[in-house]
Amino acid sequence: MLTGDRPTGPLHLGHYAGSLRTRVALQNVHDQTILIADLQALTDNSGRPLDVRRNVLEVALDYLAVGIDPSVTTIALQSAIPELSELTLLYLDLVTLARLERNPTVRSEIELRGFDRDIPAGFLAYPVSQAADITGFRATLVPVGEDQLPMIEQTNEIVRRLASLAGHEVVPECRALLSTTPRLPGVDGRKASKSLGNAIALSASPDEIRDKVHAMFTDPAHVRVSDPGRVEGNVVFAYLDAFDSRHGEVENLKQQYRNGGLGDVALKRRLDEVLQALLEPIRARRALLAGDPGAVLAIIRSGSRRARSGAASVLSDVRDVFCLNDFG
Ligand code: TRP
Repeated sequence: MLTGDRPTGPLHLGHYAGSLRTRVALQNVHDQTILIADLQALTDNSGRPLDVRRNVLEVALDYLAVGIDPSVTTIALQSAIPELSELTLLYLDLVTLARLERNPTVRSEIELRGFDRDIPAGFLAYPVSQAADITGFRATLVPVGEDQLPMIEQTNEIVRRLASLAGHEVVPECRALLSTTPRLPGVDGRKASKSLGNAIALSASPDEIRDKVHAMFTDPAHVRVSDPGRVEGNVVFAYLDAFDSRHGEVENLKQQYRNGGLGDVALKRRLDEVLQALLEPIRARRALLAGDPGAVLAIIRSGSRRARSGAASVLSDVRDVFCLNDFG
């Protein structure tokens, strides 16, 4: 099982609900690798290498703080595994430019970033590098969100083309393990994003959490406590559904809110308590680890070393297909 994250900023509650929680739960069941995809982050952040470098450590801290255990999960850094880059270069020969331009996720990202015609070539090709990530670990299971399905499809196309070239399977096909929790909205009800500042970071302080909960979008028509309120599209309920384990009580609150008689202030107070309780131990663990960056670097180094030996064996098999193994 392989997952990855671009180190472009601190991880937030959306990552926790959609993915991190699952990784913690599954790490004792599956052979799991988590890749910090710094090369992928650089494809659209080449002007900010120091930011990417800094965020590698932040993301690793987030992993460890939520309970990813480096003795069972391999935490690896993409740029520390050069075999992945050589795999990418070879896979690029199996993909057409037209195919790269058709990837719907990349298309919408290009639009979002306003690249217009000035698309960094590495950015257009990052799904190929992601195919190298996935196959470089012979991963068959990739827990991701829906936006990553086109990457899985493109990976399997490469896997099949490689097999037909070789006349036998070289690396296995993979499938996505889609998260069952719906995507967590930002506090304003829009898609959670770093640039909008509408997400709650796992490292948020108690005050930040309180302020963000206070600012959450509820139901603009729910003016007086006695007014009936809407639960659908209400951000507070989306977060309670994701993080309040007392599901029966949350259902009762929804009923009460719909009928009228439950105010936003009381509702937000409950969510604040739930999130403070969730994030307090994570923040404490994070602070402890942040005090020893050398230990975190050592974890990344040893994970990357372990990951490298697997990727080297895959690369050797792929070099064989291209008749490249005779010369060294
Ligand atoms: N593209 C993924 C994202 O934006 C990150 C990623 C890089 C990834 N390599 C991966 C995800 C390999 C799954 C498998 O979140």
